Amino acid sequence: LVGPIDVHVSVSGRTDLAAQIYRQLLAAILDGRLRPGERMPPSRELATRIEVSRNTVAAAYERLTAEGFLEGRVGAGTYVCGAHVAKPTRAPVGSVQPRALWRTLPDGPDFSGSSVPVADFDFRVGVPDAGLFPLDAWRRLVAAELRREAFRTASYGEPSGHPGLRAAVARHVGASRSVRAGADDVVVTHGAQQALDVIGRVLVDVGTCVAVEQPGYAMASELFRTLGAKVVKVPVDSEGLVVSALPAQARLVYTTPSHQFPLGAPMSLARRTALLDWAERHRAAIIEDDYDSEFRYADRPLEPLQSLDRCGRVIYVGSFSKTLSPMLRLGFLVAPASLRDAVRRAKQVTDWHTDVPSQAALARFIDDGLLGRHIRRATRVYAGRHALLTALLRRDFARWFTLVPSSAGLHLCVLLRDGVTVDLDRARELSLGVADLRGYDGPPGLVLGFGAIPSERIPEGLRRLSMCVGR
Ligand SMILES: Cc1ncc(COP(=O)(O)O)c(C=O)c1O
Repeated sequence: LVGPIDVHVSVSGRTDLAAQIYRQLLAAILDGRLRPGERMPPSRELATRIEVSRNTVAAAYERLTAEGFLEGRVGAGTYVCGAHVAKPTRAPVGSVQPRALWRTLPDGPDFSGSSVPVADFDFRVGVPDAGLFPLDAWRRLVAAELRREAFRTASYGEPSGHPGLRAAVARHVGASRSVRAGADDVVVTHGAQQALDVIGRVLVDVGTCVAVEQPGYAMASELFRTLGAKVVKVPVDSEGLVVSALPAQARLVYTTPSHQFPLGAPMSLARRTALLDWAERHRAAIIEDDYDSEFRYADRPLEPLQSLDRCGRVIYVGSFSKTLSPMLRLGFLVAPASLRDAVRRAKQVTDWHTDVPSQAALARFIDDGLLGRHIRRATRVYAGRHALLTALLRRDFARWFTLVPSSAGLHLCVLLRDGVTVDLDRARELSLGVADLRGYDGPPGLVLGFGAIPSERIPEGLRRLSMCVGR
């Protein structure tokens, strides 16, 4: 049996005590702090705690019972009853307000559980296939880290991350992406997002000019804005970020060279070199967000900016959100040694460090070769979807769409030819989840993710898409 709820009640003065208790309990029930089915403390116990007579508490309980908010169950105590619809709390007039900036940020999507509608033909961007997640291995490794002995010495951990994981990440990105890093260069973060936050804290002052790609990743540009940066959008063409369009005053450039987000094309080698030259000349830093390039379907990838950099200007950011799962919130950054101390302190003042058992489990996962095996297996699955999607788009949609070439990651883009429109309301009615490229500040087009949709649904999904296209 679940024990009674430890509800907070406070009374003042000597009069009107039952009414005071009544009002506080009623408010707690109405705004959902006390939920239907919860057991109230026995009246004698509550009375002792708040130093009133038992009759006073009993009177408050009786009134709430008479009004249908509580019910007494014989021999079992008093319970909150019914399904009261909890009223959302309303801020009293004059409540504190956020800085003006927060009113200018668009509302993000609603992720509050069941209210996220998932389309039957789910071309959502940025989510890997949950069915491929190596759950048994992960559960085993996390369970091993949660053994009693591991907690004997439980204390705060190193802000930069679990030493074994930092070493494993350095080896992993060194081998698979030719990133030049030793364990000391790696800082473990809560996803790429926190890596951007930590870097921003270290490099961005109020008014610092930060250049981002357009179209681009709003979670990055919005983050830099919240840190006080002046964010400037720089166009992207078929070779990637247009370096000649960078404002001279930019001190930080955020870019996604392996698989431009959201267009999908890689940055050419000429552009990579030009960007590094530009950063050196302008004494600017570059964030290379390499969020999903582990999944590659064609030729050898180009060298990351980080390994081409000879001047210590590039901070490489990686994530396990696509290779494992976004809900684990595991990512990392590789910073030049000149930033090491500041980055470590920035991570520490933000949240001390990332959860140690998860880090230790991931270290084992990488060291035991399970990450490599999982990536190889998932790549085979995603490569099939990428090939199918590309072939069908070329075959059936060529008169409407131009496909942006891409050979990595979990999504691709199409641009609408002149005069072509896509009815996205109709798409929703057809349970088709596709994203409008304009939502990413891009030209008319669509972003099609293939992380979540099984291959066998792709043909029917595209058939439905053809029903939404017009000219
Ligand atoms: C451009 C870009 N960067 C990074 C990420 C991953 O972010 P995180 O590691 O915070 O989940 C995503 C996810 O969609 C992304 O699109």
